Amino acid sequence: MSINSTSSKNFNRLENILIIGNGGRENSLAWIIQKNDLVKKVYLIPGNAGSQRINKCERLKMDINNKKELVEKLEFLKIDLIVIGPEIPLANGLADYLRKKDFKVFGPGKDGAKLEYSKSWAKEFMKDANIPTSKFWKVNSLEEAKKIIYSSSIPLVVKADGLASGKGVFIPDSKIDCLEAAESIFNGKFGNSGNVVVLEEKIQGPEVSVFALCDGKKYLLLPSAQDHKRLNEKDKGPNTGGMGAYSPAPLLTEDNLYKIKKEIIEPTIDELNKRNIDYKGVIYFGLMITKSGPKVIEYNCRFGDPECQTIMPLMDQNFVFLLEKCAMENLTGNEKIDISNKVSGCVIATSKGYPHEYKTGFPIKLGEIDSNDCQIFDSGTTLSKNGDLLTDGGRVLSIVCQDKDFDLVFEKAYKNLNEINFKGIYFRNDIGHQVRKNYHKGN
Ligand code: AMP
Ligand code: GLY
Repeated sequence: MSINSTSSKNFNRLENILIIGNGGRENSLAWIIQKNDLVKKVYLIPGNAGSQRINKCERLKMDINNKKELVEKLEFLKIDLIVIGPEIPLANGLADYLRKKDFKVFGPGKDGAKLEYSKSWAKEFMKDANIPTSKFWKVNSLEEAKKIIYSSSIPLVVKADGLASGKGVFIPDSKIDCLEAAESIFNGKFGNSGNVVVLEEKIQGPEVSVFALCDGKKYLLLPSAQDHKRLNEKDKGPNTGGMGAYSPAPLLTEDNLYKIKKEIIEPTIDELNKRNIDYKGVIYFGLMITKSGPKVIEYNCRFGDPECQTIMPLMDQNFVFLLEKCAMENLTGNEKIDISNKVSGCVIATSKGYPHEYKTGFPIKLGEIDSNDCQIFDSGTTLSKNGDLLTDGGRVLSIVCQDKDFDLVFEKAYKNLNEINFKGIYFRNDIGHQVRKNYHKGN
């Protein structure tokens, strides 16, 4: 849908921006957006304690599901651009609703968000468009799963079909583990997200996240990033939302990138168009570079977290214009993304127990932080009545640094982490090991 240019809203203004979401991703978006001189105010619904430390930012206490009140407030505040961070409001059609009310929105409608909120739908989509991905089976019952698992001659990965905060994927070592994973999903581990299970051929290779800003027709690529999904060092332990990242990912050679554009990104946008899906937002391609070429592991309909925190410091103050162009369908695809000549890395500090059960409410001590090309984006924090910073989530803080090489980046990040403390703090020491020349595997 294109924006109605005769509406009462002034589409040339970018004074008041709204970001929806409460994580490190949204704080990093707010941080880069406020750098633009045209921007007077950045509102976050709900944001977190860290949002208040960012220039020009204000948190709004509102329920985004109370649509009438939301629209009244946004009209009152003369919001010029809305950026929706997380997948759940996108999957619930919030972008569609706000666009119908004539707001400029960065974020796909419910139809586009299906790329993320139904893994089986995304797999069918890729199959129809001939986009390289692993083989898959959509199963509706444990009996069906059992048949496929026991007759399969290849190792399988087990996934809940719906949204599960990055935790609905199991990489079993045996057929028994595979069956157990399917059983736990069908038994309601992820609620309705597990009514359908997707079994996939297990593929191998290094992973990379690629982000395409898309206005429905044209696209623009951001620097690539590499996430670290497993909880523990040496990529062991359960999958998490992401324990750290670095950008750009040197793995993405010119050759790989060309292939990815021609075989994956452009066919994805063509297929969206073929299905009349007007996608205005970011398409996150989770890719694996296999021996037979790049393959899509997953699509997300939003920026990655912590990839977003890692990439935003490489952008300049014009970034907000790109978001606006996507919302307005006037991307040329040739815009210069002012990538700094630095590289960036992020380490996530989590609460003990994450991604399973964890306690919150512990005071956070931030010691002598080096703020030179370093940012602390709060992921899950709150303020006590006395104004003390407290833990308030599984992922608590994103420590992000930039420098001219990854050794310097992570040296700074870990030095800053030594200055941070809260009860049960946990982080991986090997983030970026692939690109840290002085990282020794025996560490
Ligand atoms: P997803 O949430 O679908 O990105 O999956 C989370 C992680 O599980 C990925 O980053 C991969 O490390 C792993 N994974 C997912 N699908 C596959 C697959 N088909 N083969 C091997 N590993 C996979
Ligand atoms: N970091 C992975 C994600 O945002 O899904």
